[in-house]
Order: sequence, then structure tokens, then C-alpha cells
Amino acid sequence: MQLGLEGKTAIVVGGSRGIGKAIATGLAREGVDVVIIARSRDQLETTARELQAETARKVVPIVADVTVRQQVDSAVTKAADLLGKLNILVNSGSVPVGKAGGSIESIVDDDFLDDFNVKYMGALRCARAAIPHLINQRWGRIINISGNSARIAGNLSAGARNTPLVHLTKTLAGQLGRHGITVNCIHPGATRTERTPGVLAKRARELGITPVEVERRDYAHDSPSGNSIGRMVEATEIADCAVFLASDRARAITGGLVVVDGGAGQAVYY
Ligand SMILES: NC(=O)c1ccc[n+]([C@@H]2O[C@H](COP(=O)([O-])OP(=O)(O)OC[C@H]3O[C@@H](n4cnc5c(N)ncnc54)[C@H](OP(=O)(O)O)[C@@H]3O)[C@@H](O)[C@H]2O)c1
Repeated sequence: MQLGLEGKTAIVVGGSRGIGKAIATGLAREGVDVVIIARSRDQLETTARELQAETARKVVPIVADVTVRQQVDSAVTKAADLLGKLNILVNSGSVPVGKAGGSIESIVDDDFLDDFNVKYMGALRCARAAIPHLINQRWGRIINISGNSARIAGNLSAGARNTPLVHLTKTLAGQLGRHGITVNCIHPGATRTERTPGVLAKRARELGITPVEVERRDYAHDSPSGNSIGRMVEATEIADCAVFLASDRARAITGGLVVVDGGAGQAVYY
């Protein structure tokens, strides 16, 4: 399938590692020049060098914190200048485990607000800065990486930062469709990234079993926390979905939500 991405340009927020890095890689492999944005300069520069060497596309690192509007605005302006134009924005600039967790009694207000500020407001700030550039091109894509904890009761902070991203997605899709811009959201399930070995090793120590056993136990078909494919989702599998949504072939898909979680849970959505 020809995706029609050759010659397009993208900003991938959170592109220095994890799901964002996998998406930046997928886009660059399809002929997209990419700016990757995150806070840690060393990791950004290492990733940019790695992706540039692998794909021979322009991959430029820009340091910015999505919680600071002025940093976001200037990073997006700089990115559009360096790339010559802007076609695609991917919002993946947030860590999977926030500061706030646990029961309502244990919620620390500032931690909860910080989580929301990074994930929801960060995506909103990046979209707000990118939209004028996308409108200029009369062709644009915004892809918000949310999370399937939006659909699973339990983690109040994860729910509060993931669920409204779906609303933002649908709202922006309605406003931007006339400009040739689509806006979509992906809910990843538990996804293997660079941080996964550490997470599995910690759980293995707690349970007194091996990391392989933890993974088998948590993701087996018959485990309550498992899914239909019986394993973790790979970051490249989220990237495949994002690259398709970014492509010209997905031009009629907008305001939508794609769940890439290996079929977790028993709920039926219609
Ligand atoms: N992995 C999963 O299992 C999973 C499941 C469901 C949903 N998700 C969602 O997918 C998104 C990405 O997760 P991931 O697993 O890829 O995380 P990750 O590997 O920790 O990568 C997060 C990326 O975001 C950047 N970032 C974090 N805070 C930032 C900030 N304030 N400003 C700018 N950049 C920032 C990080 O770089 P710096 O730290 O250097 O800034 C890094 O590039 C998150 O929203 C997460 O909730 C992940």
C-alpha cells in the first residue's frame, strides 16, 4: 500500500524514546522529515543521530517541556522553519506512570494536576502551536497518544489525563476538517518500550519469580489483566497504526479512536 507520506514533515513530541521514538522511526522510514521534541537533550540527540543514520531522513532534536507554553510555541515555530513546512503532529510527550496514583483518599492535588498538565495540557499546547502551520499546508494530521486506562476504572489520574484527550481529538477534528486536517487518537494498551525490562524486573523481585514468568502471568490469554493476543503490545505496533493514520490513505478517518491493546478487557464498545 502506498501511504503517500514521502516528502511530508512531522513533529513527534516525546520522540526521544518509547512509543514516540517508534512513531518517529516509522514516519522517517516512510520518507518523512521529523523533529523530535522532549526535555532531555542527550537522549534526544542520541535518538536523532540513530534515526538519521537508519533512515537517511532529516531528524532534528529540539528541547522543550510541554508544560511551558512559551517553550512549546518557540519549539514548534523553530521546527516549522527547520523543516520548511509542517504536516503532522504526534503528541506522545508524557510518561506512562504519572505522579498521582492510588485511592481518592491518597490523591495529592498538585501531583494530580501535574499529570494532567503534562499529558492533556501538553497535547493541547502542542496542537495550538501547530495548527496555524497545518492550516497553511491545507493538509494536516494530529495524532494524540492517549491510553486504554481511559476505559478501565481504577487509576483516577490516568483516567483524568487520557479520557479528555478523546474529547480534544473529536473537537479539533470538527474544527479542522475544512482545512484538510484530520485528528485522531490512539489508546495503547500495556506496550513494550525501553522501560519495560525495569518494570518487569521490579515486579519479579516483589513476586519472587522471573521477569519472563511475570510477563507470562500478566499477559496470558486467561489472566484477568491479560489480553486476546496473550502478550504485550510492541511499540512498533502502535507506530504502525500511527503511521497509517498519518498517511494520505487515512484521509476519511477523523475524530476517531483506535485501540491498540491486543484486545484487553471484556467490555464491548459499539
Ligand atoms: N508504554 C505503555 O505501556 C503505554 C500504555 C498506554 C499509554 N501510554 C502513553 O503513551 C505515551 C508515551 O509513553 P511511553 O511509554 O512511550 O513513555 P516513555 O518511554 O517514558 O517516553 C515518554 C517521552 O515523552 C517525553 N516527555 C515526558 N514528559 C515530557 C514533557 N513534560 N515535555 C516534553 N516531553 C516529555 C520523554 O522525554 P523526556 O523525559 O526527556 O522529556 C520521552 O521522549 C504516554 O502518554 C503514555 O501514557 C503508554
